[in-house]
Amino acid sequence: MNADLLVDLDQYRANLAALRAYAPDALQMAVVKANAYGHGMVPMARAARQGGADWLGVATPAEALELRAAGDRGPLLCWLAVPGAPFAELVAADVEVTASGVDQLQAIAAAGDRPRVQLKVDTGLSRNGAFGPQWDELVAAAARLQEAGSIEVSGIWSHFASADDPDNPSNDHQESVFRAAVDQLASAGVDPGVRHLANSAAAVTRPSSHFDLVRMGIASYGIDPDPAVHVPEVRPVLTARTVLANVKRVPAGASVSYGWRWTADRETTLGLVPVGYGEGIHRTASNRAEVGFDGKRAPVRGTICMDQLVVDLGDRPARIGDPVTVFGPGDDGEPTAQDWADAAGTIAYEIVTRLAGRWSRTYRGER
Ligand SMILES: Cc1ncc(COP(=O)(O)O)c(C=O)c1O
Repeated sequence: MNADLLVDLDQYRANLAALRAYAPDALQMAVVKANAYGHGMVPMARAARQGGADWLGVATPAEALELRAAGDRGPLLCWLAVPGAPFAELVAADVEVTASGVDQLQAIAAAGDRPRVQLKVDTGLSRNGAFGPQWDELVAAAARLQEAGSIEVSGIWSHFASADDPDNPSNDHQESVFRAAVDQLASAGVDPGVRHLANSAAAVTRPSSHFDLVRMGIASYGIDPDPAVHVPEVRPVLTARTVLANVKRVPAGASVSYGWRWTADRETTLGLVPVGYGEGIHRTASNRAEVGFDGKRAPVRGTICMDQLVVDLGDRPARIGDPVTVFGPGDDGEPTAQDWADAAGTIAYEIVTRLAGRWSRTYRGER
């Protein structure tokens, strides 16, 4: 093992089960886009189905088709298509696609025999979805195409801008815009189908936003959506682990890594950890992050490199090959993804999702 991501599928299923209690009357969608936030899309998708997730959600058509190619057959939504997207293939594979505008809706309608399609309304995030008059046009087009037997509207949905800040007034605003959009669709004679708005943070803090389905991403991986939105029932699923590739004793005055951005003020033991920004380790955490070593933390010293980083082990006994936990659940003194996020000046989502490059993945609890 050079560097390995240990992914605990039992914990993932347990997290999904625990999260169900927050929205017992809603369907649960497990969001597995972006390689399941770095955890590995196909094994996580399989575990999500085993854990009782009613739906899977991904961003891109390629992700949806990869799941189908891997044998996934359950309800699956994708939501980020560009012109030329393989709608015919998606429809034939029974993937529900999202229309964010009239042109897209027409392209979807032409892609199969009465395809099921969900409509996305932009309630204020100003990202994807139809906004204002575009939404009026999308509703009219959906009514026309459904009446003509060219599509079946199967859902309506939107996404919060600040669900991780539960008291932010934008949440009330977006929810009321969403309710009005649902009513507008129904008034146009279109059954809205499955209505959904909540991500993890909204699912745990805002029952009024649950509607028919909640989309669970970050919390299902056992990571709080934000330090201010703590979800005590879940635990991190992923442990990033490796071993020391080198160990050396250096005198006071020894400087470390590119740019000599750290210099030892006493004799100490340095450990070489064989992961770097090639593995998605944030370089901005240079001289700030810590790793877990022998039940305690050890600080990262100097600049994080492409393939490696250096940690300060002080006077602790250390040998080449000793285990290092870059981050994990925090049970054995190691930092968490949130600790790395704080050190790197980002969010924990990015710490796990960026994991890339030369990590292997080991799944515990595979069925
Ligand atoms: C449309 C959509 N829904 C749900 C999610 C899941 O969000 P979270 O990881 O905060 O639960 C995402 C992820 O960003 C998303 O883009």
